Amino acid sequence: MKLKKRWGARTCVCLVVGFLGLLGLVMVSRSETEPLKPLGWHVSPQYKKLVHQHVHEVLGRECHRGSTRKGFLDRLPASSRTTQPFLWKNTPPSNDLFLYPPPFGFKSVKGKVPALLQQLPDPKSVPPLKKTPDECQRCVVMGNGGILKGLELGTLIDRFDTIIRLNSGPLGEFSVDVGNRTSIRMSYPEGTPHHWLDTDPETLFVAVVYKSVDVSWISAMINKLTVSLWDWLFFWQNVPDEVPLERNRFRLLNPLVIKETAMDLLNFSPPTTRLWGWDQNVPTLGVSALNLASLLCDEVSLAGFGYNLAQQGAPLHYYDQLSMSAMLWQKMHNVSRETQLLKRLIMEGTITDLTGGIHCSFCPQ
Ligand SMILES: *[C@@H]1O[C@H](CO)[C@@H](O)[C@H](O)[C@H]1NC(C)=O
Ligand SMILES: *[C@@H]1O[C@H](CO)[C@@H](O)[C@H](O)[C@H]1NC(C)=O
Repeated sequence: MKLKKRWGARTCVCLVVGFLGLLGLVMVSRSETEPLKPLGWHVSPQYKKLVHQHVHEVLGRECHRGSTRKGFLDRLPASSRTTQPFLWKNTPPSNDLFLYPPPFGFKSVKGKVPALLQQLPDPKSVPPLKKTPDECQRCVVMGNGGILKGLELGTLIDRFDTIIRLNSGPLGEFSVDVGNRTSIRMSYPEGTPHHWLDTDPETLFVAVVYKSVDVSWISAMINKLTVSLWDWLFFWQNVPDEVPLERNRFRLLNPLVIKETAMDLLNFSPPTTRLWGWDQNVPTLGVSALNLASLLCDEVSLAGFGYNLAQQGAPLHYYDQLSMSAMLWQKMHNVSRETQLLKRLIMEGTITDLTGGIHCSFCPQ
């Protein structure tokens, strides 16, 4: 009921901004005033056992320094490799940052960027992600897929060094499946949780700019200010008015991480300006987070990834009641291209898929 009312109230705003055509995968993860109760979804005990064995095996084996990035670099042209995961205060932005508009660069928002950068932390004032320089970091990128539901991987996920979560992917009552630590929460304004459930004192918020107004929102969140009414009109769904973290816990994703994901890893053609909507050339946040993880970590695993489009009754997310079929009408991402890339990376051993939704290396043939 509550959901219906909220959508109704926002219909006129949606009409105004509908032309943006941001009907992404993202759209499906609508805002929540309260997390919904999980559905009765039953995972087979045999599958659960195989997944647990696999995760134990991944955590138990020797960690190889830089192994995931090495596999990525084989695919990236030597001339344009991203090395900086984040942008900082007192670090002048490079010129290639202004070649493309968001999310691939800051071309159309050039005027707003210097002020935003000044509000970010100085790299010298924040602790490094690695506690010792020669530590081998194992990371897991947590997708929000329904495949996590009922697997009870929480305590195993929490054993990874760095846990990257996406958008509003909630913890709380879902912790038994997804863990309770959050090293990084990466999101764009509309995807950010309205009720912050991360209790981890180490959490960093990695903000992603998809459109001009996102710059204003990020700056408002860092400075604990409200978003102006005018800016508010440009969001395609309700955005939170607070991110309850201190300034030095905010990070701004280097848009070149997304550009590299799109043009070099997924081989999309360079973005062109279109009046209506997008070509299917914007990577999902999940694959962009994977590329970020390759820069931050030594070994990267995925969990909760994989959309089984053949199984339309299956839950789309681990925390709500949308079904797979909601994915079919999105126009922003090319999910089949992403799945191909992930499958290759898993099969060649560059990354591991803990839950087997993309490629199940641990399933009986
Ligand atoms: C996660 O749960 C464990 C076990 O209940 C607890 O010891 C730990 O403090 C929790 N961590 C966070 C960040 O909530
Ligand atoms: C999506 O990717 C697939 C596989 O690479 C390709 O065949 C298809 O043309 C792409 N679709 C669009 C709309 O670009």
